[in-house]
Amino acid sequence: MIITLIVKPLLISHMKTNRFNTNTRNYKRDLTMKKLKSVTLTLALMCSTILLAQTININPKVKGSVVGSNLYGVFFEEINHAGDGGLYAELVKNRNFEEHVIPSGMKFKDGFAVAPHSLNYEHGGYSDWKIKWDMDSLKMDGWKVRGDAGQEITSENQLNPNTPNAMRLEMRSTGVVLENSGYWGMRIIGNDKYDLRFYVNPQNFTGSITARIVSINGDVLAEQSFNIAKSDKWEEHTAVLSANATDYKAKLELVFSNSGKVYIDYVSLFPQNTFKGRKNGMRPDVAQMIANLNPGFFRWPGGCIAEGATLENRAKWKETLGDPMQRQSEWILWNYHSTWGFGYHEFLQFCEDIGAAGMFVANVGMSCSVRNGDWTEDYEPYLQDIIDAIDYATAPTSNKWGAKRAAAGHPEPFNLKNVELGNEQVGDHYAQRYNYFYRILKAKYPQITFISTLQLSPSREKLEKADMIDPHWYVNAGFFYDNDRLFDKMERGKYDIYIGEYAVISEANMNSALAEAAFLTGVERNSDLVKMASYAPLLQNNNRKDWPTNLIWYDNQKAMGRASYYVQQMYANNRPSYNIESSNAEPERNLSVGKIGFVGSDVQSMVRNFSVKDANGKVMVEKKPVESLRKIERQSSNRWIGKQIINLLDGVSVNGGIVEFEVRLLESEVEAPRFDTNRKPRKVTLAPVFIFGSDENANDYFILTIPQVIGDRTVMTMSRATNGEANIDRNPGGSNLKMELNKWFKIRIVFGKHNQMSVYMDGDKVFEQIATIPSGHYTITGYDEKTGEIIIKVVNSTDKEYTPTININAASVKSNGIVVTLSSLSKKDENTMNEPTKIVPIITEYNKFKKKFIYTFKANSFSILRIKTEL
Ligand code: AHR
Repeated sequence: MIITLIVKPLLISHMKTNRFNTNTRNYKRDLTMKKLKSVTLTLALMCSTILLAQTININPKVKGSVVGSNLYGVFFEEINHAGDGGLYAELVKNRNFEEHVIPSGMKFKDGFAVAPHSLNYEHGGYSDWKIKWDMDSLKMDGWKVRGDAGQEITSENQLNPNTPNAMRLEMRSTGVVLENSGYWGMRIIGNDKYDLRFYVNPQNFTGSITARIVSINGDVLAEQSFNIAKSDKWEEHTAVLSANATDYKAKLELVFSNSGKVYIDYVSLFPQNTFKGRKNGMRPDVAQMIANLNPGFFRWPGGCIAEGATLENRAKWKETLGDPMQRQSEWILWNYHSTWGFGYHEFLQFCEDIGAAGMFVANVGMSCSVRNGDWTEDYEPYLQDIIDAIDYATAPTSNKWGAKRAAAGHPEPFNLKNVELGNEQVGDHYAQRYNYFYRILKAKYPQITFISTLQLSPSREKLEKADMIDPHWYVNAGFFYDNDRLFDKMERGKYDIYIGEYAVISEANMNSALAEAAFLTGVERNSDLVKMASYAPLLQNNNRKDWPTNLIWYDNQKAMGRASYYVQQMYANNRPSYNIESSNAEPERNLSVGKIGFVGSDVQSMVRNFSVKDANGKVMVEKKPVESLRKIERQSSNRWIGKQIINLLDGVSVNGGIVEFEVRLLESEVEAPRFDTNRKPRKVTLAPVFIFGSDENANDYFILTIPQVIGDRTVMTMSRATNGEANIDRNPGGSNLKMELNKWFKIRIVFGKHNQMSVYMDGDKVFEQIATIPSGHYTITGYDEKTGEIIIKVVNSTDKEYTPTININAASVKSNGIVVTLSSLSKKDENTMNEPTKIVPIITEYNKFKKKFIYTFKANSFSILRIKTEL
């Protein structure tokens, strides 16, 4: 039996306010008991569970920042066969016989493609980057010869110099078959038409070549014969093949009626049924999935491939123009070749077709620093290349590059709005370069947003002027749950933020979707600062996964969105015109167990004289060395902390207490970070990490870095670990500390009320933070001027229903409205190819909206309430 009572508030609660355009902390911890008029206590007989009343107060009259139409966009990169074997509709794999060609600028040596011995711009050493190269199997990638014949991939007889290789086929009998199995088979749809195009240099061959599409069961779905007479010239053959049935694992065969020697090159089978019927276009279902995200912008070509494993290997947009047969394919650092069939022009056209603005990522003369990292000081060719790219997209046809665009069939300018100068380039070296490029480019193209790749690192302070910076977060779910308030505190005015890449990568399920949804409440709330965001990567062919989590999955038969996909879609489809003020009252969650300790493999030599006093000043631990603490080996594979020892002190609570110790920084040689298999150990500064509020198994706790050297600054950061993974906040909350190596400093950490902590170094206060334990409820509210609706977005990441009272301070509220809900029974659930719509947004009508109403948000849900409101 359940009894519901209304009583006066008994417990401390706190209120989060959604304010805008301010640097002030939004946590209003003192607006608590007196603000809550009453709470509902639900007492279950024989059970002491207490549910506190929770409220969401919405004030549509207090207008926040405009939420721009570009806020939610998409990130495309050729990774996971996103383009070839994905969005780009070509069916033949290795159509130009170039797949074995080693990356531009590299040399083939002892089974490896080896990058030039050049200095790496980031760490100043030599990366000597290389990659295993299986030349023989790559030559025949996608291809098979059946029958009595010999074959060789050779450049001795070239169709065109850009793609020098072709297949030489020497047939000793009739009926030899050259077969292409496509990208894990070919997607052939009954009654659809396919453009076949191939080139033959017949040499001494006279007879016929029959091209046929064959199903996995050997049925011929379409065929066409071509008569060939001996010649030493390259000849083009084309036909339209009409499929008589559907098969998703079909292949293309060329059957030779006679013996003889021929050269074959550029074999293409291209569906006529493409997105918007474009020639050399996109696979319709995959393209539609992207269009259904309603993206404000589309980014191309990446990602790291824009940088290249070496500078020569970078993406070169000019080589992606014109007849696809002439396009030089290039190995991209996700370890396969891109045909560049989805080239610069196709990218701009696709943006237009889905109504998105273009974002071009340009190389600025630097390759990827976690690969070879080579660079050039000769800026001019790179600068000119960017100028030409912008002109190709936007200049009038009187301009040389504008004329090329017109010749390619698009005299009108394309909507290219953003250019990122590099991708994930780091450090002061890059900052200087950005400054140079920016000065010239911005003066010439004031309408374009020029994005700097610098993240929230100290080097960004070296930017003279930037339109935007581009922080990336590939993290665990805990990071996003903990950082919904990250941007609230950030300084405005210097540059805006574009979150170019973000995703939970530690798991793919409803938990990641909810964590991303929680984080996006903060993005939308801070839309005066965060102007654009794109989940990454976008696409994954399910036969090939280069990255842990990707948004849209497909095979040859179907395409589907993960739960995260629907989060993106819900945000984009329910973007308000501007934010409105709201606040959530929630019971405060205090540090619970309060165990404390250190993390670090060499803590013993970095910490000494460690002591703890409790809230009453009673000495709990007196001047201990850290060796005396209990040791737990941490199993996490976390990128930043890794597998390390945790030293814990049992039974000592820090709540209200004081922790003191002495600390020094050491220099050490460390292993390379996870992406870089080639990089040698390098000197870094080691610092211990102080943890507190830990649970029994040291899985969940707060982390204070004491302090960490980032670039040329020493900073403190505080973050949380959940499930043994650190949710690193890469925006340091600490100040510019000067810490010398090998010198002992006194640290004093004072824990106050409401999880407030202050850190003193040699007597000076250097850091202040609140150890916030998230409630699992996240809200952002806005107003849609077009429809006159307030839009309330609520994430409930807990396993329990969330039943707040919603108060809307408006003249009137219409009772009928719309609710969109994405939910699942378990946070471990995810859509799959077999169950692609297990988790999808459900749209329902709701007729009980009032100025004050109680709404039940499902457990594990992301909900959007659209309520007609007169302000
Ligand atoms: O999205 C995958 C990769 O992650 C991108 O290529 C790169 O920019 C980032 O490191």
